[in-house]
Amino acid sequence: MHPREIRPGIQAIATVHWERRLFDSLIPLPDGTSYNAYLVRGDQATALIDAADPALQGEFMGHLRDVDRLDYVVSQHSEQDHSGAIPLVLQRFPEAKLVCSTKARDLLATHLGVPEARIVPVEDGQTIPLGGKTLQFVYTPWVHWPETMCTYVPEDRCLFSCDFFGSHLATTDLYVMDRARVYEAAKRYYAEIMMPFRGVITRNLEKVSALGFDLIAPSHGPVYDKPVFIVDAYKEWVSPTMKNEVVLPYVSMHGSTEAMARRLVDALARRGVTVHAFDLTATDIGKLAMSLVDAATLIVGTPTVHVGPHPAVFYAAHLANLLRPKLKYAGIFGSYGWSSKAIEQITGLIPRLDVKVLGTVLQKGVPTAETFAQLDALAEAVATVHRQDDLVTG
Ligand code: FEO
Repeated sequence: MHPREIRPGIQAIATVHWERRLFDSLIPLPDGTSYNAYLVRGDQATALIDAADPALQGEFMGHLRDVDRLDYVVSQHSEQDHSGAIPLVLQRFPEAKLVCSTKARDLLATHLGVPEARIVPVEDGQTIPLGGKTLQFVYTPWVHWPETMCTYVPEDRCLFSCDFFGSHLATTDLYVMDRARVYEAAKRYYAEIMMPFRGVITRNLEKVSALGFDLIAPSHGPVYDKPVFIVDAYKEWVSPTMKNEVVLPYVSMHGSTEAMARRLVDALARRGVTVHAFDLTATDIGKLAMSLVDAATLIVGTPTVHVGPHPAVFYAAHLANLLRPKLKYAGIFGSYGWSSKAIEQITGLIPRLDVKVLGTVLQKGVPTAETFAQLDALAEAVATVHRQDDLVTG
């Protein structure tokens, strides 16, 4: 998009990737994404904050066609969707210095081949005056790499946050117009890449909130001109509070596990527990990750393949283990033809989840009345601990 003013002397340059559907060959992007850069012009110097993905670097460079001088290029995060176009920018503006956190120096040199002589590392809290505007660098590690930082312009009370508070949305909206849509996209993004670092993100939230800002300008998705909305959302997501919710991913091969899943969903719902069920053969893994942000319980259902769980269940369990959601309780159910070690193997896949297993139900062949009674008992155990923990719905 053509540069658009968000404050006098500050322009947003969104390079919108409408058709992108997968990030890192892993994360679904149902709504595409944008790579946002920002131009900050002072009386004496001009800075560019972040750039764009290499896939659209030609388009991005076109957005800079009217810029005649850059003194600084700020790389807030070395991942290529923001930094990939930086070598071209440095080529076009040979006078520009590349500013980054001390940990990013090595990453930018090794990932992009930027000559070290062009790089100016800055410490946490360091400032660069531009003349009437100041760049103040705020280290915010693990949102979501170790080197990530934000940039604050105190004269405009504007925080540039890169991935932090971002949302994968391809949109022409400069500011948040559809709050529900942005909330969902931002929550999905938080779940996919930041959830494992809840503790440090809590500290980062406190750190940036102390600065005081009227505008949050992330490097994905629209700008927040009413930033309390997204700050409050993050506070809720990182808080220890869990909800009266069960995430129930499953796979079925011949219908037995599906019948068990349906019984369990119904038994939980009848007891007032909200269930997010996912057939893993047709699941957007981002939605599964998002549902794990709030849930107290994970219950996994699997058929048996060569004595172990279905490979899609391996993947989902491994993913949950990596994302380290709040989860307090777990359950496992499934079916098998002649023999199964699925329960032991699934349990072994989730060592990083600090969960109490409330029950397991493993059925040989087609589920019977006794199987359904065991599933009802599992649902009752879940509902009971959720009640004891005063978990709320919604
Ligand atoms: Fe948007 Fe971590 O890159």
